[in-house]
Amino acid sequence: MTEKHLFCGNNKPADPANLTEAEKKHMPVIDCPDTVKAGEPFRVNIKVGEIPHVMQEGHSIQWIEVYSGENFKARIDLTPVTTAADVSVTLIKSGKHPTSSIRVIERCNLHGQWEAVKPINISQ
Ligand SMILES: [Fe+2]
Repeated sequence: MTEKHLFCGNNKPADPANLTEAEKKHMPVIDCPDTVKAGEPFRVNIKVGEIPHVMQEGHSIQWIEVYSGENFKARIDLTPVTTAADVSVTLIKSGKHPTSSIRVIERCNLHGQWEAVKPINISQ
């Protein structure tokens, strides 16, 4: 059943230290180094979520977008049943700023968009 209140903006946990069951199934989990070197590729692994989200006909993760701060970097479209909401992208930071963040937004067809952010440091 669609929960309409979840379709207003990007959902984030009310208390990040105490996730609800729905938050555990929908919050993107971002795995990447805390510090990356400017100009060098690094891998960002993303899964939805801490409890793996189902990928069934009628209820699935439709896409995952990756941003560096506010800047769009990649989008992965997913298909129910034959894919898992567990993807990787390779990014390269320019090094213009000493700190940045990896921001991931995913969309569940029944439970809306969910956003997670991980801060990173950029060394020269
Ligand atoms: Fe869902």
